[in-house]
Amino acid sequence: MSATTFGSRKTHSIRVLLDEAVERLLAHGVENPTLNAERLLCQIFGIRRVDLYVEAERVYAFEFAQEFRSLVARRCAGEPLQYIVGETEFMSLPFKTDRRALIPRPETEILVEHVLCWCKTRSAGSKTVKMLEIGAGSGCIAVSLAKYLPAAQVLAVDVTEEALSLARENARLNGVANQVEFMQADYLDDHFAPTLGQKFDAVVSNPPYVSLEDYSQLPAEIREFEPEIALHDGGDGTSFYRRLTEAAPAVLRKGGLLAVEVGLGQARAVESLFDRNGFRRITSLADLNDIKRVVSGECGRYF
Ligand SMILES: C[S@@+](CC[C@H](N)C(=O)[O-])C[C@H]1O[C@@H](n2cnc3c(N)ncnc32)[C@H](O)[C@@H]1O
Repeated sequence: MSATTFGSRKTHSIRVLLDEAVERLLAHGVENPTLNAERLLCQIFGIRRVDLYVEAERVYAFEFAQEFRSLVARRCAGEPLQYIVGETEFMSLPFKTDRRALIPRPETEILVEHVLCWCKTRSAGSKTVKMLEIGAGSGCIAVSLAKYLPAAQVLAVDVTEEALSLARENARLNGVANQVEFMQADYLDDHFAPTLGQKFDAVVSNPPYVSLEDYSQLPAEIREFEPEIALHDGGDGTSFYRRLTEAAPAVLRKGGLLAVEVGLGQARAVESLFDRNGFRRITSLADLNDIKRVVSGECGRYF
């Protein structure tokens, strides 16, 4: 039995709800409709994905079906799945996600892995590794660095309090609140001096790197739901790279690392900013599609 009527309140089995949702999501042009429908069903019923199929004929209360349909409607309206379910995975760690901050992207893991690798090959055992992150957002970079590098102490800066409040929750969720300090500041402000008297082993950033022009071409799903301030810099997309390459040497230890995520086609220009500002061992890292995603270099100027 897949559908039952209790008075006017018709209930449906998981299988029927899944089929109905896939059809609706498909009609609204949502990519991977089955995966989306499965994830939303798991969220509502609090069950594992495999149970959707093991218990496919199980009939749930009318209220559950209604709640599920309202989540499907939000997804059909373009709201990202991660905001609807309120969580995602990054570097195999759980992160809360909501509209306070950008959704962590898989390509950002390349940046984190590179920094972890650099730190592990250079740090001497338990010596503290001090890091500065510019543009913390959900906290995915700072929290992952702290989690995988117990010797790390991270100062994570963001201009919005909303993002920082989410980042703090994610630091607690992952048990690294004692390793990450959060600070609200505008990195592009000339008066920004977050690091008074401090030197770091590494400065890391996934800054807003979309140009204002390209921002208007981004999919509505991104523009209408994710924070605008996390995506574009109000100019040509290079403001943060200019500021970081000019200002980081003053806060880096001798030979310290500056590592940044870059957008499509930006790597070469960012490499030359690193070069112009005296960085050495400049490296670019590409993703599996051979798109350069990360540029890094070691500080060659000391203050
Ligand atoms: C691309 S998001 C990166 C978020 C997170 N680190 C990640 O990788 O998912 C850029 C972040 O920079 C922050 N931001 C934008 N302008 C800033 C500024 N002037 N100073 C400091 N942070 C800024 C945004 O609020 C946003 O959280």
